[in-house]
Amino acid sequence: MTEELMPTGNSKAIVTNQTGIHEKLEEVVLKHLKHPSKKPYQAHTVEAFEAIDAIVQSFTGEVILDSCCGVGQSTRLIAQQNPNALVIGVDKSANRINRNVDEVLDADKDKPVDNFHLIRADLNDFYRLVLAAKWPVTKHFVLYPNPWPKSKHLQRRWHGSAVFSEMIQIGQQMILRSNWRLYLEEFNAAVEIAGLKGQFSVVADEQPLTPFEAKYQASGQECFQLAININQP
Ligand SMILES: C[S@@+](CC[C@H](N)C(=O)[O-])C[C@H]1O[C@@H](n2cnc3c(N)ncnc32)[C@H](O)[C@@H]1O
Repeated sequence: MTEELMPTGNSKAIVTNQTGIHEKLEEVVLKHLKHPSKKPYQAHTVEAFEAIDAIVQSFTGEVILDSCCGVGQSTRLIAQQNPNALVIGVDKSANRINRNVDEVLDADKDKPVDNFHLIRADLNDFYRLVLAAKWPVTKHFVLYPNPWPKSKHLQRRWHGSAVFSEMIQIGQQMILRSNWRLYLEEFNAAVEIAGLKGQFSVVADEQPLTPFEAKYQASGQECFQLAININQP
């Protein structure tokens, strides 16, 4: 994560040279739907996946995935709210994943939770492994993904990435949040190309789910949610 994307006290609104949905979106999405990623897996992600896969395969309840979880505050809150689920937070940053989440979530002290795991892995590989292993994911959260607001960086956004095809086959429902509505509009346009459709709302939770959400709200920015039903059995 770059410095400008850290949740400091001065969370700036998105600055972009894009005025609407990217003109190359359809071309890029169709290319990735037709030709999913064949990139070799990175060893550290395979190792991390195999360790958590053993836990998932021996678990009988619902699995919730919290992608790009940062320090894991949302993972922990979702675990508290879903005590019978196994909640798995994934982030590629070792620094964020290994940070003591107790420091981040004081509110947790009276209500210890142990039904979650934080995994350091690259989702470009992890998603493909999750799909191949048929994890029984109910909800898949993607909260405040890096927006990559410059037009030339479309392919760094999740909907412009080579793993988009696998990403949108995971879980029964995907829930994305962003302070950049256009990111979500573009994601929705991309899932429509794949035959799905999302629903927009404004985030109005009393307790912010993540540090980024807290900072955006504290600086008066609206945060948006896109919920997509994938409707797998
Ligand atoms: C803007 S931060 C949001 C963190 C957290 N969800 C929040 O709202 O506070 C985006 C996070 O996505 C993670 N990330 C970006 N690309 C990733 C990838 N390919 N695999 C796993 N994590 C990734 C970054 O490390 C970073 O922690």
